[in-house]
Amino acid sequence: MAQYPDTLQFNHLNRPLGVEWTARNLEVEGVIPPDIQGAFFRAVPDPAFPPLHYDDTTLSGDGMVSRFLFQNGAVDHDIRYVRTPRFEAERKARKALFGRYRNPFTDSPAVLGVDRAVANTTPVWHAGRLFMTKEDARAYEVDPHTLQTLGRWDYHGALRSETMTAHVRIDPHTGEMFFFGYEAGGLCTTDVSYCIADRDGNLTSEQWFQQPYCSMMHDFAITEKWAIFPVFPTTANLERLKQGGLHWLHEQHTDSWVGIMPRYGKVDEMRWFRGPKGVSAYHFVNAFQEGADGSLVHLDLCLSSTNAFPFIREPSGIATPQWEIQGGLTRWTFDLSQPGEGFDSRLIGPPGDLPRIRDIDQGRPYNQCWLPSVNPHGGPPVPGGPVGTSFNCLLRLETQTGRLDMMSLQPGMAINEPIHVPSSTPGHDGWLVCVVDRELDPQHHVSELLILDASNITAPPVARVKLPVALHPQVHGWWVSAEQLSQSKAGRG
Ligand SMILES: [Fe+2]
Repeated sequence: MAQYPDTLQFNHLNRPLGVEWTARNLEVEGVIPPDIQGAFFRAVPDPAFPPLHYDDTTLSGDGMVSRFLFQNGAVDHDIRYVRTPRFEAERKARKALFGRYRNPFTDSPAVLGVDRAVANTTPVWHAGRLFMTKEDARAYEVDPHTLQTLGRWDYHGALRSETMTAHVRIDPHTGEMFFFGYEAGGLCTTDVSYCIADRDGNLTSEQWFQQPYCSMMHDFAITEKWAIFPVFPTTANLERLKQGGLHWLHEQHTDSWVGIMPRYGKVDEMRWFRGPKGVSAYHFVNAFQEGADGSLVHLDLCLSSTNAFPFIREPSGIATPQWEIQGGLTRWTFDLSQPGEGFDSRLIGPPGDLPRIRDIDQGRPYNQCWLPSVNPHGGPPVPGGPVGTSFNCLLRLETQTGRLDMMSLQPGMAINEPIHVPSSTPGHDGWLVCVVDRELDPQHHVSELLILDASNITAPPVARVKLPVALHPQVHGWWVSAEQLSQSKAGRG
């Protein structure tokens, strides 16, 4: 295509920007709390060239790494494309060469065998390294200081899995990173890798198991004792791909599943629980266990009655419009001391997605989470993001007390996923940092960074950072403290 499609995936907030830039000492309204020293990394999909297919999605966009660097109350911003082989090949050709979302059979023959990774989903920091991840490929390491792409990451040749999730879980006490990869053995396989890297970044465990069918396994969870793997019926089919079709279709009448195994155990200890038909969840808030032997496992997830992405739901023949999708923040409870495939389910909060918790609460009983949502009284949502409609409010939910607070944006504004920055003040719950956008007209928007008191989100922001240019919607972000940044291993083999 000579031009970007005139669809929601490429217009309004989603219109491609493709600008790499650097800005120093951005204008700050208010005062940046002294606790906030470090970098807020964001993964931003931004297609460098018009796609080959009209019905392409923003999730195919080339990954950009965006960094807000906070130093003593001053804020800098940098954004760079991740130099994946795919980006480099298309830049050399000055056009798109890769075809449909996750369908290599639709690529130009000129890029046969070239890594299709776009590295556009989550920046992950672990053991002194920054990775840009996308679940259909291995991660790319990026220098956190220069934002230079250092190459594809495979744990010095140790990793067998062809893929790595964008949703890793880091145990706050052991420093270990738990992660997985689906389609680990190749396109549309049911192979799933389950891996552990120790606090120094060594791959200490990689095991493979089979999931019940080839599902989009976007997120997973850990507790102190368990690893929890979801299977929702958004499925891939190799024959369909060979015929040039879509990677994903959603099967509304197929069972969902949850696999639970000891996190340090063997994959043949996996126990499978059968869930409702047709449901979907992209993100898990957290999981934790109860009881002396930890046999009661709670999993909190942003559950919906069908797949939330129109570009998957509509070709699947599911006529449910976006506003009729049911669901909300849901707690699934599994009693591992009992036999059977069943589990309990109860609603614990409203609909929303892109949930955040404090890093120290990972895998433990917790009380606070924050998640963007849609305030139905906040005016029509701004078109943007992979769903096509943006969030216009931020919720703070106390999962133990049920208390719910909402920070609603003005009409015409959209909110990206926040990150949480801990406070050094005892008893203070820290800060949330997020980008918000204001649409001026369908071709223009402005962006700014907000800093909120995490326990008091309804108060005015403690600081706003002004940006001279618009930012493209991010997928996920990650906070890296100044101390962590000073321990970077970038460039060291
Ligand atoms: Fe995600």
